[in-house]
Amino acid sequence: MQTKRKLNNGTQIPQLGFGVYKVPAEQTYDTVAHALELGYRHIDTASFYGNEEGVGRAIRESGISREELFVTTKVWNDDHGFNRTLRAFEKSLARLGLDYVDLYLIHWPVPDLFPETWKALEKLYHDNVTKAIGVSNFLDHHLKTLAATQEVNPAVDQIELHPKLQQKDTVDYCREQGIAVESWSPLARARYLDDPLLVQLGEKYKKSPAQFIIRWHLQHDFVVIPKSTNKDRQRQNMTVFDFNIDQHDMTLLDQLDEGLRVGSHPDNIPQ
Ligand code: A2P
Repeated sequence: MQTKRKLNNGTQIPQLGFGVYKVPAEQTYDTVAHALELGYRHIDTASFYGNEEGVGRAIRESGISREELFVTTKVWNDDHGFNRTLRAFEKSLARLGLDYVDLYLIHWPVPDLFPETWKALEKLYHDNVTKAIGVSNFLDHHLKTLAATQEVNPAVDQIELHPKLQQKDTVDYCREQGIAVESWSPLARARYLDDPLLVQLGEKYKKSPAQFIIRWHLQHDFVVIPKSTNKDRQRQNMTVFDFNIDQHDMTLLDQLDEGLRVGSHPDNIPQ
């Protein structure tokens, strides 16, 4: 069972997606083909991941109609600027072998350049080659800078988010502005799945700690894109619509926040 969430421009996004960060190019076709077979309908890639070809081929050969699928890709840090971004988008589209994407994101807020890059995303949106546009790794201060010159409000901000990194200032600002929050590394790269509270709550609900965390994201209204190259874990991660975490236990998870990052800080731009 999938649920969809409406973005601020009316586009529908499957709330549970499938991330392919660090899936090696040669493994991507099989991994995504299997995810699609299982029922994932939202795939999150990026030019930086180097695996758009495999994602595109799995999509094209799946036999699933394009309208049922939601595909995200992102412009990398060395492609910022108006014209460069337009060219980078064309290249991503060609690698994917698609004629539009559903969501195009600025991957990181490269200082001074991202407002101009956003203008290119606005053009792509108006040209209808992407159904929605958004950002990734933007903190509230980046979003406020962007807001000073934007014509189109971002539909999404995709940030590192999990119970031990809840980014409340950015999440609150996104909620105020109608920007959907998407969680990357929603399982914190499996770094603390053995946390005693997660293990205990998992047992209580007869779910794995990973399923429990994914459900926590869904109940916070976050879009969530867990990654797994393992077929059993892919299936496990989508079996999260048959239970509900009660308010008391949601609060216990909310109390795990300790600012623990597994990826780069948004003010520390990866090259
Ligand atoms: P694998 O690909 O071998 O399944 P994130 O999405 O937070 O970046 O986490 C991805 C990491 O978590 C990967 O190392 C993945 O390993 C692992 N992982 C994904 N799903 C599960 C799961 N259900 N149980 C345990 N580990 C998982």
